[in-house]
Amino acid sequence: MKKTILLTTLAALLVSQAGAQSCMANVKKSGLTVGTSPDYPPYESLNDRNEIVGFDIDLMNAIGKKMGMKVKVVGQGFDGLIPALISKKIDVIAAGMTVTAERKKAVNFTLPYDNSANVIMARKENLKYGTAASLAGRNVGSQIGTVQEQIVQGIKGASSKAFNLYTDAAVALQTRQIDAMVVDKTVADQFLKTYPDLRITGTLARNAKAMAVRKDCGDVVNRMNAAIIEMRKSGELAALTKKWLK
Ligand code: ARG
Repeated sequence: MKKTILLTTLAALLVSQAGAQSCMANVKKSGLTVGTSPDYPPYESLNDRNEIVGFDIDLMNAIGKKMGMKVKVVGQGFDGLIPALISKKIDVIAAGMTVTAERKKAVNFTLPYDNSANVIMARKENLKYGTAASLAGRNVGSQIGTVQEQIVQGIKGASSKAFNLYTDAAVALQTRQIDAMVVDKTVADQFLKTYPDLRITGTLARNAKAMAVRKDCGDVVNRMNAAIIEMRKSGELAALTKKWLK
């Protein structure tokens, strides 16, 4: 009886090992397909030539290099990223994604690479929207499927307007279709450069960002984490942060 249990456990272990190995072997063969939502500068956005560029892209390319793998970046809507990962259309999510307990149930996060606050943005004549409470009765924007959408939905009396793209929320704010939006401070700083009428009017809670990999690809996460630690030590990560996020 004991022997059977032992054997079953052993077999289960071997199967899970094989699964993990094939995960790494697969990406070795085909390269890492990285999914992102390129509406979130400076983490990811489209340049003049319609190429996806940004902190997350440089970071993934550096990690890929250390892992000895090709990296291919594909753009799509933010709210479809976790489903695309689970259905194996992509291998990694690099999209300025916040680590949350809910997402942890579905995906495996790497070590965090960034930590920044959420802020409220409004037009310059509305500096009064400095706190969550001040947004009661207002139309408040964000992006569909983000933690910011959840924050806005949690603000008492506010009406949540979530857009497909974060850039669309910024346009809506500039053109008076919404009164305010909640967004990452790092991204707000970029939107300020594009939309001169916008201001940061308040600060909300901080959040950590990481890349996400499928649950059964622990070996890939381990290799990515090793690369991140190497980049922390060598100063490469600090250099990338300085280039894009400061
Ligand atoms: N940090 C937020 C979240 O994880 C927003 C990320 C949006 N990213 C993007 N590439 N549009 O929910």
